[in-house]
This record gives sequence, structure tokens and C-alpha cells, in this order.
Amino acid sequence: MLIHSAAQLLTIVGTPQRGHALGDLGVIENGALLIEDGLITAVGPSNEMRAIYAEEEMIDASGSVVMPGLVDPHTHVVWAGDRAAEFEMRIQGKTYMEIMQAGGGIVSTVRKTRQATVDDLIFETRPRLRRMFANGTTTAEAKSGYGLDTESEIKTLDAILALDMEGPMELVPTFLGAHAIPPEFKDNTQGYTDLVCEEMLPAVKKWAVGKEQKMILPFVDVFCETGAFTLEQSRQILKTARELGFPLKIHADEFDNLGGVTLAAELGAASADHLVVTSKEDIAAIGASDTVAVSLPCTPFGLAEGEYTPAKDFLDANCILAIATDINPGTAWCESMQFAITLACRYLRLTPAQAIVAATLNAAAAINQADKIGSLEPGKQADLLILNVPDYRHLGYRIGGNLVKTVIKKGQIYPN
Ligand code: NIG
Ligand code: FE
Repeated sequence: MLIHSAAQLLTIVGTPQRGHALGDLGVIENGALLIEDGLITAVGPSNEMRAIYAEEEMIDASGSVVMPGLVDPHTHVVWAGDRAAEFEMRIQGKTYMEIMQAGGGIVSTVRKTRQATVDDLIFETRPRLRRMFANGTTTAEAKSGYGLDTESEIKTLDAILALDMEGPMELVPTFLGAHAIPPEFKDNTQGYTDLVCEEMLPAVKKWAVGKEQKMILPFVDVFCETGAFTLEQSRQILKTARELGFPLKIHADEFDNLGGVTLAAELGAASADHLVVTSKEDIAAIGASDTVAVSLPCTPFGLAEGEYTPAKDFLDANCILAIATDINPGTAWCESMQFAITLACRYLRLTPAQAIVAATLNAAAAINQADKIGSLEPGKQADLLILNVPDYRHLGYRIGGNLVKTVIKKGQIYPN
């Protein structure tokens, strides 16, 4: 299949883009792209490609931008119920942390998620994934973390794997047993930390190696934050996970700066995420590492807070910067990476080109998939979007709509 005559074909070829090198889209005007067996096999100017591949099925993309599928590298998309009432409380003046300390917040979703069966979780999550896909997300990371006991966490991971199998969106699993302190350990946070290390991580490893579907272990993530896990507890969990062979992630600096970003860089984590109140030292540490800095602009926006990731400081420090939605029922129910781009342009001051790379190739790097997805180059999976606009800067510029005309996933066409 040959997609041709794209007004702009965004190739984004090469390795993840560091620091101020961010934003190299590798635009081919009047570009074309060949797909064979679900893979991209050639990319180039339309006139040449149409002559060489004249026998192929043709898709005319004139007047359109063709770009890599969006990658959402941080989601809590699997949950039961909703927290609309808490949203209203926040609008009336309560803070996210006050609601959490009063027994609401994450643990209220935990109550609902514990009661749900795997099928219930699949049933509630599927429509969210369908909408994310229609909005251009072709691969998403998906975290557990609303179970907070071994059985409920594994139930969530089972739902993630089932939804990944079902497709069309691909899901990359993360175990976030250390998302919050469950009510039964309210006064014994160290006891829960030890349970994560001694019981849950070995159980998740056993679960993962028993599956044929994913040959790799899921990521292990920790919410390193006041009211959740201390820096020492985060270190204990991540070091134990690393010894068991898991790749790592961390939630850090959403509200308080505890040093989680430097910890992530030291341990070789794939990413450190949130990064709103990160110190200069922590920014320097992540900039000197291969750990991807994942900013989640929908979260301060969802909480109606004024402070966002200081993206320029991260770029000055030569970081690999990515963005994600953080879709979750508490702080940011956002199903659109296009909306994350729109916010990143305004509040992180990224140009549309920078935000697009942060949402594709660099986002793929945050989930260790940059060799397979995130750019349009021969050998990569044919995950791409045909947009209803002739200029990529409409991403970022427009607010709250959906510019995707067609999603192509592993070479299969899904029209909107
Ligand atoms: O990334 N910070 C922790 N986790 C989510 C919020 C989850 C929730 O409130 O349910 C986040 O913002
Ligand atoms: Fe999160």
C-alpha cells in the first residue's frame, strides 16, 4: 500500500531528540510512504515513489499531514467508577491532597476497582481506549495501581493484557502497586512497602513469565510523593524491582520535591514523570542520563493549578523530554494526546514541532519502544495518522477537537 501526495510527511527519523535538538520533524513535502506486511518499507518524494511502486494499492493523502501515531507513555486508563463528586469538591476549594488524606482520592477508586472483575475492568476501559485510538494514540503505556493488593493488581494487569490482545491500540503494561497506601496499611506505610517488595513484585514476575504474549517484564513504577512513598521507600521498591529484572519508572515532583528524579536517573529508569517542582540538581541529574523526562500537562490543567513542568530548564539540561496524558479518574481524565500537545505548546512553551516529537519518538523512548515505533522510517511498524489539515502546526494551535482523519495501525486502516 502506498500513501502518497501528503502535503507534509513528518518522518522524525533518528534517535530520540535531546535538549534543544528537540523538534526536528524531517518534513517531506509531497511525501509518500510504502507499507508492506504491517511495516514501513520505503519513504520518499511522491513523484519518485509513485513511479517505482505503481502497482501498489494507492491512498491519496493530498491536503493532509501524515505523521507517526501518537504514543501516550503514561496512563492510568484501567479503573472502575468515577470521581465526578471529588471534581466538584475541588472546584469548591478542597485540594487534591486534602481529599486524599480524608480517605478519598486514589483509594476511592481502589474500593471500586477491587470490587470489579477482570471483565468489568475490560468493559469500562474499552471505550476509553477506543476514543484514545480515534484521537490518534496508537500505543499507550497502561498502569495498574488501583488494586493495591496482590490479587487486584494482577487482575488489573490481566485486563491490560486482554485489552492489548484485543487491539487495535497496543498497550505496554506497568505495575504500580506502589501508587498509594491502601486503607488497611494506613498507619504502617513501611509494612505496605515491604509487602510490595516481598510479595507483590515476585508475584508479578511469576505472572509475567507465565505469559506468552509479552516476552518482556512490565515496568515497575512508584508514586514518590508526600502522603504516598518516601524517597527511601521508593528506592527500596525500585532497587528490588531492578534486582528482579524489571525496567523502571517513577512518579516524582507532582507536588513536593523529594529527590525521586535523581533516584530514577541513578537506577537507570526508563522515565521519570510529572516533574512540576523538580530542583535544579535533579534536572541536571536527569539531563546527564538516558532517563526520559515525561511531562503531564493535563494534570495541573485538570487540577486547575498554575504550575507546569519548567520545560526550558529540562531542555537546557539536555534532557530527552516527552509528554503524556496521565489519563486517570482523579486529576486528568484526558483521552487525547492532541490536547496534551495543545497544553504543552501553551504552558511548557514548546513549539508544535517540539511537542509533536515529545508525543511520538521521545514518548516511544519513555516506554523503551523507540526502535519499533514513534517515527516513519523503513523497518518501523506502520503506525501512522492522516490528519485533516495541510500544516502540522494545526496540532497545538487548535483546541479540543480531533484532527485525525484516518488511523493506520500495523498497516490496517481505521477511518474516523
Ligand atoms: O498521576 N499521581 C498519582 N497518580 C495519578 C492520579 C491518580 C488518581 O488520582 O487517581 C496522577 O496524577
Ligand atoms: Fe500518573
